[in-house]
Amino acid sequence: MQLFEPGETAVVTGAGNGIGRAIAQALVREGVDTVFAEVNAHTAQEAVETAEGHGRAIAWTGDLARRDECQRLYDDALAQLGHVDIFVHSASPPRHEKDHLFGVDDETWRSMHAVNVDAAFFLGREFARQMIEKDIKGRLLLLTSLHSITPRNLPHYSSAKGAMDMMVKEFARSLGQFGIRANAMLPGAIAAGGFVADPALAKHIPLGRLGIAENLAPLALAVLSNKMGGYVTGTNIVVDGGLALTNWFEPPSMDL
Ligand SMILES: NC(=O)c1ccc[n+]([C@@H]2O[C@H](COP(=O)([O-])OP(=O)(O)OC[C@H]3O[C@@H](n4cnc5c(N)ncnc54)[C@H](O)[C@@H]3O)[C@@H](O)[C@H]2O)c1
Repeated sequence: MQLFEPGETAVVTGAGNGIGRAIAQALVREGVDTVFAEVNAHTAQEAVETAEGHGRAIAWTGDLARRDECQRLYDDALAQLGHVDIFVHSASPPRHEKDHLFGVDDETWRSMHAVNVDAAFFLGREFARQMIEKDIKGRLLLLTSLHSITPRNLPHYSSAKGAMDMMVKEFARSLGQFGIRANAMLPGAIAAGGFVADPALAKHIPLGRLGIAENLAPLALAVLSNKMGGYVTGTNIVVDGGLALTNWFEPPSMDL
């Protein structure tokens, strides 16, 4: 089944690594012309060069903590693609355990919110505006986190993800009338660049293993495809092997 119409296009942020890269490469595989937006020029280039498929893979480098760079991404994407049908926001600064309640400094707080919240709102709204102008049934997908609703001991991170979860609902509510869909994807413990995985965590995951970035991409394709996910908007898509179900009750030992 062809998931996307010929000529559909996408912009994916954080596409040099991890989940963003897996989603961007999956879109190219499905024939979608895709801009890989990334702060690291080397990883952006490498992600584009290893993308396989009949969509175009275009590297773009810039710092999305800055409004002028977000504007440049918007302008360059439209210049390269002509129009944008799909916007996926996966970019997020690295997180460090030292940035707890009394550890996090102003700059770390600001850049976490700038890349996650401010860039998502500016780019999501501007791409949506051109979708409406061009009568595109567009799609927005924001990568948030299980820590949008549970603490992570990283207040700058969890508060940014919580804001993004609410932003998705605002986008979905306002843009539905134009046929534009907005959803959040919540990864669990995914052994990608943004999360240094302790293998011991696997015992808390009902499916018994950490995730990999490629576990996210198929579901991202499904929700981004208007053929597959055309009636899905404003929702949280959790891809976590059941991690969110962890609590103080151990699973029962059962006789069959
Ligand atoms: N990996 C997980 O377990 C996990 C869990 C929950 C949520 N998430 C979320 O999923 C998304 C992807 O996570 P990941 O593990 O693939 O992360 P990652 O660190 O591997 O990838 C994030 C990418 O964003 C880029 N980036 C950072 N700052 C940027 C900036 N200022 N401008 C442009 N690009 C910038 C990084 O260079 C990197 O390539 C993030 O939003 C993250 O918060 C991940």
